[in-house]
Amino acid sequence: TDYNTLIVERREAVTLVTLNRPQALNALNAELLSELLDVMRGYDADLEQRCAVITGSPKAFAAGADIKEMQEMDFAAMYCGNHFTGWDDFTRTRKPIIAAVAGYALGGGCELAMMCDFILAADTARFGQPEIKLGVTPGMGGSQRLAHAVGKAKAMEMCLTGRMMDAEEAERSGLVARIVPAADLVEEALRTAATIAGMAPIAVKANKEMVNAAFDMGLAQGVQFERRLFHGLFGSADQKEGMAAFVEKRSPNWTNR
Ligand code: HXC
Repeated sequence: TDYNTLIVERREAVTLVTLNRPQALNALNAELLSELLDVMRGYDADLEQRCAVITGSPKAFAAGADIKEMQEMDFAAMYCGNHFTGWDDFTRTRKPIIAAVAGYALGGGCELAMMCDFILAADTARFGQPEIKLGVTPGMGGSQRLAHAVGKAKAMEMCLTGRMMDAEEAERSGLVARIVPAADLVEEALRTAATIAGMAPIAVKANKEMVNAAFDMGLAQGVQFERRLFHGLFGSADQKEGMAAFVEKRSPNWTNR
């Protein structure tokens, strides 16, 4: 499939999605959202694909929601169109998604990175929620996900001042998993994705679902949820295979069941 705003490549079991609106620093417009949702739906349904990487350009992962597209919208258009609600569908992807961020990840760009399962940052990455400078607020979950990721003090300061965080601060604060030299970012993200792609797909989904539950549930309920999913995996062929392979000192052959 050809997309206007994305480049999609399959690297064996890994889907690599490159945001591709260089003229607007990958600003997220309606067309990009709709193309990205199409890719993620296909990815989730494709038994051969096991991990996805979303990246941008060396200059910008994404410089935000498309300001030119939103500028003239009024309350009724925003409210009745339930603007940005489509991004919730992105977060319903059940397979893992890594954000590989170089350059600017601002506003909706930072929010998209945070909707992914974890962020690998180039040393050039810069994160921010500068909506305050436009007279608005984050609108794609940024106030919530940033507060969860870095705590109230930094989230509040960033939202109120619009300042950016560099990669070092982002790693120190827990926003990103690791920093990688910019030149190696995509290759390292693909290597990490290939590692995940080599795991039992059912266990990958279960791990993603239960870590995400930590943000939606209290501790006791979350621990119970984890335990029940863990119990459930003992009904899978891949649990039998994974444990047998360990005992027999060989590599497992996953069957996706
Ligand atoms: C539309 C954008 C854009 C955006 C950049 N561009 N960001 N277009 N929406 N979010 C366009 C510019 O208009 C310009 O187009 C081209 O991309 C290159 O950008 P420059 O500004 O010339 O580049 P530079 O000087 O290098 O500055 C980079 C930058 C700056 C610091 C990232 O572009 C910037 O501040 N962008 C806006 C960041 C922002 O406020 N994001 C939050 C958006 S709101 P032309 O045609 O002039 O060459 C949001 C939350 C939505 O995301 C929820 C609230 C409603």
